[in-house]
Amino acid sequence: ELIPVLTIDGPSGSGKGTLAQRIAKTLGWHYLDSGALYRVLAQAALQKDLDLNSEKALADLALTLPVWFSVAEDGLRVWLDALDVSDIIRSEQVGNAASKVAALASVRQALLQRQRDFRQLPGLVTDGRDMGTVVFPDATYKVYLTASAEVRAERRHKQLKEKGIDSNLADLIVEITERDERDQRRQIAPLKAAEDALVLDSTQLGADAVFKQISAFIS
Ligand code: C5P
Repeated sequence: ELIPVLTIDGPSGSGKGTLAQRIAKTLGWHYLDSGALYRVLAQAALQKDLDLNSEKALADLALTLPVWFSVAEDGLRVWLDALDVSDIIRSEQVGNAASKVAALASVRQALLQRQRDFRQLPGLVTDGRDMGTVVFPDATYKVYLTASAEVRAERRHKQLKEKGIDSNLADLIVEITERDERDQRRQIAPLKAAEDALVLDSTQLGADAVFKQISAFIS
């Protein structure tokens, strides 16, 4: 493949989404928030009252899921059919449901080609859990971005607050740790750094410092 790809994987709240969007904007490349696909699927399943363990029904839903992205001034907007689900899919409830459906093999299979279709000229920046390991193993640049669970929970707390969503920091730490463990322990496409990824720990780094390091890495 000649079309360049930068993958940014890492646990929830590591700042990969913000970073990936900023780099995509700077380079003028496409951007794929792969986590949003799992979140929208979970949201659609919750709306339909589907059992989050029924693999066949969820995989069928994933194959035809009417999910769209659009870019607004304040960032990415995510659509489920004609419904703007950008805010609702960021709740912890949907995040947890997403990590449950994301553990199902046929769900991941159903979303694989859709993710690869985002690889278009002049290039793609994408973030998730398995972008460098499974979806784009031949990516040009791979980054694994992490940070301590406490710092990630604090960032998440702040983000939610800005969106007007109430949350409890102690609960967030527990939820984040649980979700990480589920993502790391699953059989298929577990969360881990690709062997050829640049590993960056942002516990002590601000967003600008991380952006600078990644910019230097890809230039
Ligand atoms: O990145 P985000 O927190 O939006 O992802 C939500 C959930 O979707 C993750 O906890 C993970 O279980 C799943 N996911 C995944 N593979 C990806 C991206 C997200 O399994 N590439």
